Amino acid sequence: GNNADVRHFLRDDDLSPAEQEEVLVLAAEMKKDRFGHRPFEGPKTVAVLFDKPSARTRVSFHVGIGELGGLPLIVDGVSTLMGRGEPVEDIARVLDRQVAAIVWRTSGQELIETMAANSAVPVVNALTDEFHPCQILADLQTVRERLGRTAGLTLAYVGDGANNMANSYLLGGATAGMHVRIGAPVGYQPDAVVLARAAAIAATTGGSVVSVSDPVAAVQGAQVVAADTWVSMGQDGKDDRVRDLMPYQVNAELLAHADGDAVVLHCLPAYRGNEITADVLEGPRSAVWDQAENRLHAQKALLHWLVTRP
Ligand code: CP
Ligand code: NVA
Repeated sequence: GNNADVRHFLRDDDLSPAEQEEVLVLAAEMKKDRFGHRPFEGPKTVAVLFDKPSARTRVSFHVGIGELGGLPLIVDGVSTLMGRGEPVEDIARVLDRQVAAIVWRTSGQELIETMAANSAVPVVNALTDEFHPCQILADLQTVRERLGRTAGLTLAYVGDGANNMANSYLLGGATAGMHVRIGAPVGYQPDAVVLARAAAIAATTGGSVVSVSDPVAAVQGAQVVAADTWVSMGQDGKDDRVRDLMPYQVNAELLAHADGDAVVLHCLPAYRGNEITADVLEGPRSAVWDQAENRLHAQKALLHWLVTRP
């Protein structure tokens, strides 16, 4: 159904800088008092739909909705919900009369936009080909824990600069006032529209965004260095991608150009020896397990904020 007042989280810039800050403060509170926030008691049910594989997203939403006092309804969308070719519009109108929110991992961004346009309850993007905004909330929470702030810090993401993580670092990092640098070769650089949107946000938050092809220039002095798989779900041409992106591997040599206390992020799953070496992933600068845990806290805060907003 329609509800003009309902808020969705389909891309990182669906939260204003002040709202993102609010959610991250709440996420820290959720982590400190993990079992003390039960706004979904009743219970409210949250549907969590998957069209692609998932470990972290599946576990963190399932556990988190339960900890909020709610009921998780986890569904593999392709095989059950929409397996008879039913339009997204119809699924939205069936779900929104019974659940408090809809969380969806799918392929095209236009699918989740259609879901949101037809849903009277909040719709949350649990990864599309274009964006992974819940991951960025967890990453920003991790940076705040490690470095005390986000504004003014430089975050360098090297690798596939055109994927969902790159887009979300651009939008979400700019929203958080960060200086976001993408290091990617020609053919893997960010979409001009996303880059321009991120630049416009950065102009209001004191951050900045830039895309460069030199991986050393990208990480030079950065306080945060981030990697992601070179082959995202649904992509093919694996061999070409590994060859093209090898100079962008996050290894000890590349990391030596970053700030001495740089925090290393990877949303996982990690492919050791491709986008990141095992020694860096398991090394003292790596925050990847905190990052994975923070999916839980950040998403609990986001769901609470979206569903119980006055
Ligand atoms: N980082 C992340 O979203 O992990 P999953 O794909 O396992 O959910
Ligand atoms: N870019 C990756 C992220 C996985 C969490 C993918 O879309 O497969």
